[in-house]
Amino acid sequence: MTTTTTHQNWIDGRWQDAKSGQTFERENPADGEIIGRFPDSGPEDVADAVKAAAEAFEGWRSTPAPKRAEILFRAAEMMLARKEDLARDVTIEMGKVLAEARGDVQEAIDMTYYVAGEGRRQAGQTIPSELPDKLCMTFRQPHGVVAAITPWNFPTAIPCWKLMPALITGNTAVFKPSPFSPLSATNLVRILEEAGLPPGVVNLVFGGDEAGAALVEDPRVAMVSFTGSLEVGREIAAYCGRHGRRVHLELGGKNAIIVLDDADLDLAIDGAVWSAFGTSGQRCTAASRMIVQDRVREEFTGRLVTRANALRLGNGLDAGTDVGPVVNTESLAKIARYMDIGRDEGAAIAAGGARAMGDGSDGRSLDRGYFFQPTVFTGVQPSMRIAQEEIFGPVTDVITCLDLEHGVNIANDVPYGLVASIFTRDISKAMRAMERITTGIVYINAGTIGAEVQLPFGGTRGTGNGHREAGQAALDSYSEWKSVYIDYSGRLQKAQIDP
Ligand code: UN1
Repeated sequence: MTTTTTHQNWIDGRWQDAKSGQTFERENPADGEIIGRFPDSGPEDVADAVKAAAEAFEGWRSTPAPKRAEILFRAAEMMLARKEDLARDVTIEMGKVLAEARGDVQEAIDMTYYVAGEGRRQAGQTIPSELPDKLCMTFRQPHGVVAAITPWNFPTAIPCWKLMPALITGNTAVFKPSPFSPLSATNLVRILEEAGLPPGVVNLVFGGDEAGAALVEDPRVAMVSFTGSLEVGREIAAYCGRHGRRVHLELGGKNAIIVLDDADLDLAIDGAVWSAFGTSGQRCTAASRMIVQDRVREEFTGRLVTRANALRLGNGLDAGTDVGPVVNTESLAKIARYMDIGRDEGAAIAAGGARAMGDGSDGRSLDRGYFFQPTVFTGVQPSMRIAQEEIFGPVTDVITCLDLEHGVNIANDVPYGLVASIFTRDISKAMRAMERITTGIVYINAGTIGAEVQLPFGGTRGTGNGHREAGQAALDSYSEWKSVYIDYSGRLQKAQIDP
């Protein structure tokens, strides 16, 4: 690459540098090439962005929802028209293979269309009163300024999961994307600008932890929506708790696939490989535990290892690549640390286990990128750290279970509760598992990834705090109910007291 493009924040409808003039660079995780320079924003930039969002709020909330929706529909159409370019930028900045990057963009498009449809719905209720000549009804109302702090693993979809429902319900927003996926954030905000979003309604601020903290702590922010690590999420939640601020959290998973001995093993293996190694295992929904009934464990493990070893690593833009790089050097180091942790705990590494070097799928060297071999741990006990903690890389465990109940108990017994899946041909066992699994999302005879936008997305335990993204549930996260009583009796009626 010869010249490095310098990008800007978008605050109050103007593209601008960080006040300090500081920037950071992002490199392509597949080859280390610099892909752009971005503002390293400080608290002063965040304050400007929040101010702009606060000032735009009255105008935006009083814009009729169907009119707000028209802008969202336009944005969805533009994303569709530019899908290929948007997808390439996803691959270039965070590494996932192009087919998956297209899926990321498609999920953003789906979400935007879905939510835009809510412009003409957003129904409240009319409810009977206990008193005569009195009408009761409910309306949604926006919170105000929403802080959307997003991760790099779905750099188009997750910002749309947050921004679109926030906008359709009348909130304004400050959007701080991960510094590891800044191109997609720029692309999305340019589309919103071209689609006609008024100045200040969405503001884009690049930066790291300092900018994130300034945003969470700004008293004009009414709600924080954060997707990221458990540790950071808990800090944000503690701050929001102390300051009475709304907060929505999505903090990952330690998702399991249960394979019973009557399962269609071909299907289970396909589901396992896709769920464990797709996006290099860097999905909140990735399957990092295979809980396999003892009778089929050996066969399942052998086939999983063979498939893991056959996956072709390389640049996600190359058609022959199955698995791209992980996001950065810190991530490589963290995954490598878990190899030692697993070994020390007594697990065995049956596939992978190290950074991948040498020739990639297209003959180009992997050495300058951040590649990790698809890894399978065997001999794993459910209580081991590798079976309890989110590694966020192409690493999965095989754990033995004796029967359905044992498998479900192991699946449930982790600090997270996002997804679980079960492979079985027995309808009764599938139904029982569906009932007893305590995650927010359950799949029957499918892997753990592939959530659709019209259903709620989120999880139990450490995964979240009860809120959901996507589906109708997203509207509940980004709005509050207002209950209205209209008394047309002409006299003072007393609820709970009048006969
Ligand atoms: C995430 O990993 O944070 O179900 C989101 C899936 C995708 C979304 C994943 N539709 O894997």
